[in-house]
Parts: sequence; structure tokens; C-alpha cells
Amino acid sequence: MTPRQSDALVFFGATGDLAYKKIFPALQALAKRGELAVPVIGVAKAGWNLDQLRARAEDSVSRHGGLDRDAFDQLSSQLRYVDGDYKDPATFAALRRELGGAAHPAHYLAIPPALFGPVVEQLAQSGCANGARVVVEKPFGQDLATARDLNRILLGAFVEQDIFRIDHYLGKRPVHNMLFARFSNPIFEAFWNRTLVESVQITMAENFGVQGRGGFYDATGAVRDVIQNHLFQVLSNLAMEPPARMDSECLRDEKVKVLKSIPALKAEDVVRGQFRGYRAEPGVAADSQVETYAAIRLQVNSSRWQGVPFYIRAGKSLPVTATEIVLRLRQPPTVFPNALPLPNYFRFQIMPRQTVAFGVTAMDDADQMIGQRAEVVASRQPGADERAAYERVLGDAIAGDATLFARMDYVEEAWRIVDSLRTMNSPVREYEPGSWGPAPRVEDIAPPGGWADPAMPEAAHD
Ligand code: BG6
Repeated sequence: MTPRQSDALVFFGATGDLAYKKIFPALQALAKRGELAVPVIGVAKAGWNLDQLRARAEDSVSRHGGLDRDAFDQLSSQLRYVDGDYKDPATFAALRRELGGAAHPAHYLAIPPALFGPVVEQLAQSGCANGARVVVEKPFGQDLATARDLNRILLGAFVEQDIFRIDHYLGKRPVHNMLFARFSNPIFEAFWNRTLVESVQITMAENFGVQGRGGFYDATGAVRDVIQNHLFQVLSNLAMEPPARMDSECLRDEKVKVLKSIPALKAEDVVRGQFRGYRAEPGVAADSQVETYAAIRLQVNSSRWQGVPFYIRAGKSLPVTATEIVLRLRQPPTVFPNALPLPNYFRFQIMPRQTVAFGVTAMDDADQMIGQRAEVVASRQPGADERAAYERVLGDAIAGDATLFARMDYVEEAWRIVDSLRTMNSPVREYEPGSWGPAPRVEDIAPPGGWADPAMPEAAHD
């Protein structure tokens, strides 16, 4: 079935941070490609008018990626603004008027989750939800129960096919590319299994703190901020079977199967850390037990992966900003008695570079048959014309392509896996900003052979 194209984009939270940092630049980029043919209606409660919103949009694109005069003028001419309270029917009556003849708007909720309920209710009552779809920012709930509550609210006005749950990581080209690389190159698939792979690790490191988002972060923590969503999506792309067809449902079916084969986390599978100084951040509780670093171990009990441990770690205030996957292969049989144990590995860097690398053992320079590491690397910098993640997901939401959005059964499985953490009370250990997390202890989980820290990008591949 051909997806239904939206004929207007409404975004709630038009004067907010996300709009400023990501949404306006993405809309300008879509306009530049000639892919923004619909009115864009910002909604917020700021006491602003349309000129003020236009000025804000211009400032936003100038600071985030650069102003493109023609594209911006086009966006600006399509921009509309509705100011008002999200609980006031008058706001939605005004929105209805702005929508004019649009019969299939996309309503994008770039607002705090506590406001989803009132907005959806008003969209339904005002008739703005008729024929429409809704696009919801992450986090989708705080746990399985609240995700289901939220979904019930959305289902009060929309059907599942019209609920688009954003995970902007899926809009990143290298994440997208994982499936293309896997399923177009039999050379990968040949060793992509429990027979040859010893362990899999995924690292998402950020060398900055919570950047003024202390209030949000302290109610969320690393597991719910990035592991349960972004990194589980990366894991699913890594571990899934080839889909029967490349349509959104076949693809999402395979992802759900991966999560279904993962048992819930146990206390011994988790290390939680908090960087020194976090509790002094505005919005953070003075005795906060929220993790800014987490490392977890998962089992994927599919026939392809059973017995292969998967490790995921994510943290703020780590030494570098990089997201990377390493599959370590099993040791080769001993032929050279003095050779170092250097397993082959396969490395996928998602950011900052896009890298596919294969780690091999080469003869050492002194010809002593000890061996040394060498990497076969294919790496590229993101191109200037490359779609940013938000551009891709917003474009797809307008076009009605659900492939890069999380389906509810997937979201439920993802919460099921991490929900056990809530009642575990596993301790949070302090670490130095700029270090690789809490000082290791013998009982800590770690991949066999240790974590592979992403190197500084400049040094990693050149
Ligand atoms: C967001 C998280 O979803 O993703 C942030 O809330 C995180 O904490 C960000 O920094 C990372 O995404 P990107 O695209 O900026 O690397």
C-alpha cells in the first residue's frame, strides 16, 4: 500500500529547544531539496506572533548548519504560527482554521511527555486529528506501564499505523547503512553468527555532560535516555535476520523478534556510574542516584546468537564522542606457538566518522611470528549534502514511511528488558569526568578481552 502523504506539518513546541536545534534546520534542508511542499504550522504558548517565530527560525538555522537564503525564504513563506495554551480549546480552534483545507496533517509533538495527553485530547475534540497522523518524540514513556498509558492516550485519537514514534538514531545514515552493508555483502553474513563471533560490544560515548538538560536527565538516566531506544535499535540492526521484504512491517517484525529473544536484565548484568560534578548541575537532585554511565550485558537467545554475549555501554563526560560497534571473533587455532592472542574483529563506527573496519593479525615487523594488529579500513566523513537524522525522519513522517519509527510491540519489548533495573537498586558509582566510567572492579561485566574504547577520531583510521 502506498503511504499517505501529509498535506500539512504541525509542530507543537515551536519555540522550544528541540525546534531551535534540530527541527528548523531539518525543515530548511527539506526545503532546499524541494521536499517541503506543505504548510508548516508551529504551535506554542509563548505570547509570540509569526514574525517572532520567523526570526527565531532564522536564528536557529544560522546557528545550526548555516542559513541558505533561498531555502529559508521558502520555509519562512510556508510557516504559520498558532499561539495558545495546550489545554485551551481556542488554541485548537485556531489551529483548525490555520489548517484550512488540509485533510491529512502530521502533528509532531516536540513537547514534554506530560503534555502529550492534553494535546492529543484537544486534537481529537477539535477535529484536527481526523485523517491525521501523530509523530511523537522520545522517550516513549518512562517504563512499560507508562508507555502503555501513553499509547492508550494516542489510540484515543489515532490508529497504530498513524502513530510515528521517533528515534532519531534510525535517521542517521550509518545506522541505516548497517542493514545495507550486512545484507548486500555475503562476506559479512558468512561470519555473522555464534560459530565465529565471540562477543559483540556497542559503545556510545559523549565527551560532554547534560548540557543544561539536568531536569530531564535526572528523571531519565543513561539507560532510558539512549540505551533502551537508540542503542537497542543499533543492536536490532546488528542482530536481526534478513527481512522477507524491505517494507516497513517486515523490517520491524524482524527487529521485534530480536528484542523478544533477549531476557530481562539481572543485577549482575549492569554497572551504573555517575560523573563527579553531576549533582551540582541545575535541575539535578543533590543526592541523585541517576546514572550518567551504564554498561549492560545481554543475551540474544536466537538460533544465530545464542551463547554470544552482547555488551552495551553509554555515558556522558567520557573521553571522546563516538558511537562504535565491535564484533570480536573467536580465537584461531594455535599454529604459531609464540603468536599473541589477537582475535579478528569487525568494527563499525557510526559517528563521528562512518567506518567499516576489519581487524586482522599481520606478521610483526621483526619477523618473529608473534604478530601485530592491522586494520583494513573503509572510512568516510559525512558528506556536506548528507541528510541529517532529523531531516530524514521528518521527511519520512510527512511522506508516511514508517520504517524508521518504532512500532508499539517493539517499544514494549524494549521496556520489558530494562524495566527490571527500576527495582534493582544497583548502586551508582562515581567516576572522573573524562574517564571511561567507574574504576573497574573484578566483578564488573566486561567483554572477554576488555572494552574496545573508540580511539580519538583523528588517530583512529589515518
Ligand atoms: C538524545 C539524548 O536522544 O540523543 C541525548 O537525549 C544524546 O542525551 C543524543 O546526547 C545523542 O544524539 P546525537 O544525534 O546528538 O548524537
